[in-house]
Parts: sequence; structure tokens; C-alpha cells
Amino acid sequence: MGDYLTFEELMKWDAGRFTPPARLAVIGDPIAHSRSPQMHNPALKACGIEAQYIRVQVPEGRVGEAFRQFARCGFLGVNITIPHKFEALAAVDEVDDLAAALGAVNTLVIRDGRLLGRNTDGPGFLRSVRAAFGAEVSDLRVLILGAGGGAGRAVAVQCGLEECRSLVLVNRSAGKSAAVADEIRAMGRCRDVSAAPWEAAALAEAAEQADLIVNATSLGMKPGDGALIPADALKSRHLVFDMVYRAGGETPLLADARAAGAKVVDGLTLLLHQGAISFEHWFDLPAPLEVMREGLQNAIAL
Ligand SMILES: NC(=O)c1ccc[n+]([C@@H]2O[C@H](COP(=O)([O-])OP(=O)(O)OC[C@H]3O[C@@H](n4cnc5c(N)ncnc54)[C@H](OP(=O)(O)O)[C@@H]3O)[C@@H](O)[C@H]2O)c1
Repeated sequence: MGDYLTFEELMKWDAGRFTPPARLAVIGDPIAHSRSPQMHNPALKACGIEAQYIRVQVPEGRVGEAFRQFARCGFLGVNITIPHKFEALAAVDEVDDLAAALGAVNTLVIRDGRLLGRNTDGPGFLRSVRAAFGAEVSDLRVLILGAGGGAGRAVAVQCGLEECRSLVLVNRSAGKSAAVADEIRAMGRCRDVSAAPWEAAALAEAAEQADLIVNATSLGMKPGDGALIPADALKSRHLVFDMVYRAGGETPLLADARAAGAKVVDGLTLLLHQGAISFEHWFDLPAPLEVMREGLQNAIAL
């Protein structure tokens, strides 16, 4: 677990505390587990940028105040993680079209005192699929488990915007995935969108019809979390993307997928590509991807 500032410490800002000056942050509650500083600080150094990236724990309901304080203290940007992505959407001065379509803000850009909301969940997902599988989502039939959660909804909407060949959405609380399916249908970009029940037989059937299987639930984070999908439903032709990352071991989904001979990608890859896109939003510079990857790998190994 890493150091972090409390909300109270943020509000009583002591600029002398940080050398180089703190100019970027990640907020969430909790936040000590975030590996983003270990990814971004080496990138800032490699690019010769006199700034550092810190963690700040912000309680629910205080995101707007925190954003205004970051702007007053000369910050350039902020990443936003659980549970603040929806509150952040309402707290910014402006959102771009993608963040508005994805319904959440996970990256804040501060320019001339204005708070600009961006979302890197969807674009980070697309880059990860390209980098890990050499595939474009537009060519794929996609199954998303956990499509009713924040990250699952963002990825589902992004797949809809990419006009993927077909999209099947599953969520433990079925009403949420059905609502996301309705929303994507209404966008009119992906013609074949449906919701399936959270049951072993339906999941196996949906996997049979899919090329890319995505876990966007939080299952797999803790040791002892069970399998999401029957292991024999996973085939060597599948591309399997687990958005969860777990220090010190593979998730059950990725272990089953690898055993079946499928190609796999984990949540660390997504974190890397999302981080790179945030960096590009803040600095209009290509992100030093290999430096960021190494920083993350070192952080996970700790
Ligand atoms: N690697 C990355 O960069 C990255 C980025 C974003 C998210 N993530 C990961 O993605 C996961 C989801 O994040 P989020 O922001 O979408 O969280 P969220 O909004 O809280 O959504 C959680 C999702 O998990 C489902 N879920 C929780 N417990 C479950 C259980 N016991 N059985 C079945 N489904 C269950 C929820 O279903 P209900 O709707 O039924 O509750 C919901 O679909 C987390 O593990 C997060 O770390 C990773």
C-alpha cells in the first residue's frame, strides 16, 4: 500500500511538501492500493517534466470541491477511480462527446482553470485489444460479463460505437445489462445487441457465439473467487480479456482461458494503455509506454 493525502490535507494544501511539485493525482476511496503513481512518475521523469503524481483519498460527495482545489493549487490533471467516475461527470465544466456517451469521467484535464472531463476506459480497452490480440473490435463478436457496472458499461458502449459484429451483455443484476443493451441499440451503430441471463448454460451458449470474452465484474480480484464461466466453454479460438488485475497470480478466468489455449490479456495491460491516454491528454505528447510498463511491473512485483 502506498502513501496518500487525505481530503483534509488536500484542502489545507502545503505546496512545500512535494519536490518536484505535485501536479497530477489519482483520487478514489480507498486509494492506497493504486499503482498509478508508479506508472506515471517514471514517465514524467523520462520526459523531463518537473512534476510528480500523487494519491489523494476523496470521500463520496466531495469530488467537485477536490477538483476546484486541484485547479487552485496548479494541478494539470487528475485520474478518477472507484467510486467517483459518475460524480466526476457532474463536477466538470465540460465533457467531450466520448465521456458523455460513456456516462463517466475517469480523467480530468485542467486548462486555464477550466475542468475538462475525459474517459480513457473505452479507448484504453481498444488499444489493449489491438496491442494484445492484433485485432479490431469492429471485426469481433463480443461477450461482456459485468456489463451493468461502470467499467463494463463503458466498454459495452465503446464496442457499440465501434460497430462490433455482435454484442452480448451479461450482468448479475440483469436489469442493468438490459438497460445498457437498450441504450446501445438506440445509438443505432451496432445492429446485433442482446442481453443474456447470468446462468451457466446461457453463458456457455453466449461464449460459443463470441470471439472476444471480457470480464468487467470485480470477480477474480480476491483469492478464492470462483470461475465466471464454465471452463469447458473456453476454446483456443477465444480472445479473453480480464479487466481485473491481481497482484501475485492470475485470475481464475485467465488461468482457465490459458489452459484452453486461448489468447489472454489482463487488467494491467488496460491500466497501462488507459494511463498512456491520460498522459497524452495532459501533455499532448506520446506517452513513454515502455517506461510506464516497467514502472507498473515493478509495482506489481513489490
Ligand atoms: N484494469 C483497469 O484499468 C480497470 C479499469 C476499470 C475497471 N477495472 C476493474 O473492473 C472491475 C469492475 O469495476 P467497475 O468500476 O465497473 O465496478 P462497479 O461499477 O462496482 O461494477 C462491478 C461489477 O461487478 C459485478 N459483480 C460484483 N460482485 C459480483 C458477484 N459476486 N457476482 C457477479 N457479479 C458481481 C457487478 O454486478 P451487479 O451490477 O449485479 O452488482 C457489476 O457488474 C473491477 O475489478 C475494477 O478493478 C479495471
